[in-house]
Amino acid sequence: MKILLLGSGGREHALAWKIAQSPKVEQLYIAPGNAGTRLVGENVAIKADDFDAIAAFVKAQQVDMVVVGPEDPLVKGIYDYFLEHPEVSHVPVIGPSKAGAVLEGSKDFAKAFMKRHGIPTAAYQTFDGTQVEEGCRFLETLKAPYVLKADGLCAGKGVLIIDSLEEAQRELREMLGGMFGNASSRVVIEEFLSGIECSVFVLTDGKNYKILPEAKDYKRIGEGDTGLNTGGMGSVSPVPFATPEWMARVEREIIAPTVNGLREEGIVYKGFIFFGLINCDGQPKVIEYNCRMGDPETESVMLRLQSDIVDLFEGVAEGNLDERQIAFDPRAAVCVMCVSGGYPQAYEKGFPITHAEVEGSVVFHAGTALRDGELVTAGGRVIAVSSYGKDKAEALAKSMAGAQQIQFEKKYFRRDIGQDL
Ligand code: AMP
Ligand code: GLY
Repeated sequence: MKILLLGSGGREHALAWKIAQSPKVEQLYIAPGNAGTRLVGENVAIKADDFDAIAAFVKAQQVDMVVVGPEDPLVKGIYDYFLEHPEVSHVPVIGPSKAGAVLEGSKDFAKAFMKRHGIPTAAYQTFDGTQVEEGCRFLETLKAPYVLKADGLCAGKGVLIIDSLEEAQRELREMLGGMFGNASSRVVIEEFLSGIECSVFVLTDGKNYKILPEAKDYKRIGEGDTGLNTGGMGSVSPVPFATPEWMARVEREIIAPTVNGLREEGIVYKGFIFFGLINCDGQPKVIEYNCRMGDPETESVMLRLQSDIVDLFEGVAEGNLDERQIAFDPRAAVCVMCVSGGYPQAYEKGFPITHAEVEGSVVFHAGTALRDGELVTAGGRVIAVSSYGKDKAEALAKSMAGAQQIQFEKKYFRRDIGQDL
């Protein structure tokens, strides 16, 4: 079959790498892809949210399935667009409908959904621009630190965690005053939860689901989880505290009620659900939902997924995911992300990258491009090295050696991925 994968980051290179291994795939296209995805498929110069161009390409090339990597096209409704256009309506889109993507697209919707279905999460209240003073008074009833979340998509920047009440009230006024544009026209204020985070991924056909290997990502730029938040500096799978007992609880209290809740509410959801969880003294609680896989979690999760991912996608499309097999590699996987010096603040692009093939590891490109045939940096997160190990220490050592080997000016990476667990 012919598959079109949408997106251009490390997550998409990892998905493309896994999809390309399937004996069912005759041709894999990636739109727009990066300099790494072209090694496992054919890049197509179409933006992931240009629905007209995507549909025209799908029709012209007789693509059999579209797999969506990032949230943007999902929140904008690519699933519904395909259904509404007869020339492509027979082509399954792996990803939720626009109504399903609201789980990620609106924090207020996600919180209300969890409340309706008794899914454990932080206590909260939502305020809009007419309720600034109520919001400030609500903050006075909470204990520090204060958690403020812009309701809409903010490319990972919409969450503020603030120690002082006065500052939280000031930030609330700014957010409701348009700090993040429309995305912060409503703000969720929630209880601060303390614990270790863990990302759990599910693939669902709307009724049945399969749980993928869990992972932990490392968001801060500095070692020891210090400094600014990034898109993710590395990931590890498995996560030691995600024991079979803990995962059984996650399934019973969080996963099953989410999938059943979506179905009961008539929300069409055929794709990945990403549960951002926090372990509060053994009790898993939901910090957030995403309607896609995580990045850089995918760069370790795909190493540990032994089954044919395309077979699972067919199960999603056909609504018979319960008849498909899923198996995990028992080894540990660790991903180390090499980033541009200065990231997540200002950084330069266009530096040549050399020694980017690492023996014994899998290299996933994120922000890379080809310039006159030469591999160059093209983003903040540049290139990731993922490795297997008998344990995470061995996997980390291999990924670090790979990250050391790859050369580009001002390269930086964290050496402590997975060390806190
Ligand atoms: P989100 O975009 O909702 O995932 O939030 C970004 C990050 O903020 C999360 O990964 C957590 O580290 C942190 N965070 C969000 N909500 C809370 C909360 N209620 N308590 C503690 N930390 C939180
Ligand atoms: N790694 C977190 C995310 O993809 O949102």
